[in-house]
Amino acid sequence: MTAAATVKRPDTQSNVSPLAVSVANLDVHFGDKDNEITALSNVSVNIPEGAFVTMLGPSGCGKSTLLRCIADLVHISGGSISVLGRSPREAREGRDFAFVFQDATLLPWRSVIDNVRLPIEVGKHAAGSFADPAELLAMVGLKGRENALPHELSGGMRQRVAIARALVTRPRILLMDEPFGALDEITRDKLNEELLRLWQETGTTILFVTHSIPEAAFLGQHVLMLQAHPGRVKEFMKVDLPYPRSLAMRDTVEFIQVTAHLRALLEECL
Ligand SMILES: Nc1ncnc2c1ncn2[C@@H]1O[C@H](COP(=O)(O)OP(=O)(O)OP(=O)(O)O)[C@@H](O)[C@H]1O
Ligand SMILES: [Mg+2]
Repeated sequence: MTAAATVKRPDTQSNVSPLAVSVANLDVHFGDKDNEITALSNVSVNIPEGAFVTMLGPSGCGKSTLLRCIADLVHISGGSISVLGRSPREAREGRDFAFVFQDATLLPWRSVIDNVRLPIEVGKHAAGSFADPAELLAMVGLKGRENALPHELSGGMRQRVAIARALVTRPRILLMDEPFGALDEITRDKLNEELLRLWQETGTTILFVTHSIPEAAFLGQHVLMLQAHPGRVKEFMKVDLPYPRSLAMRDTVEFIQVTAHLRALLEECL
């Protein structure tokens, strides 16, 4: 990703909040009365605009559910969620956020650039409010591959296309659910560094779910640790490591202390 290509956000509305996401006493139940699962119980967290927050926790603790509630994809049973001072539904309609899943979910018959253009074609946005797809592809290191088809790309390249596609509507928030979970370690490391650069260039708020303790510590300003049965907040921990962060930082005593603390916390959640 190049430092030169920056995505300028549209002017903010009058209803500006310093918080990107505010979750208060959130409860989410699935199933019926006889067979009810409490996916989330009394979850409260505040995510400032521009923050990078990673989310860790054992399988089934509700990480994806929390992200999906913020994205207005899951009905909440109690409590409230505010996204940039609006309801999740209003935020979804206003395209305040974009979602990146573990699988890039590209349309196989469309070229790379046409996949990135897709949200422009299906959205109701005013002309001129989009980022330039070619510029975004350059930003994620895919200049020259605009006309390739998804099957001609590696898994890491497909995920870069998915990130470029997510950024085309200039979302103020990126919700990422294990976006690099299926990639090999070297590719993942590279994308981690690139994502940090992208975050610093665009000022986008990022909520990033992962199962990897080093990934959570390397990326996040804060780590939101959830525990299971029922899903609830274990800790919202500040990661006291300076930016810009390079992969070499992972060998420092300070980094190892952070990961050791997270590992101990995670063990308490099991
Ligand atoms: N649509 C649904 N219907 C019923 N139960 C669901 C639904 N979605 C999630 N659940 C349940 O809610 C709980 C939390 O699931 P969720 O997918 O949020 O966990 P997770 O922390 O993302 O797990 P993983 O790390 O394995 O991805 C689980 O018990 C799951 O079975
Ligand atoms: Mg999940």
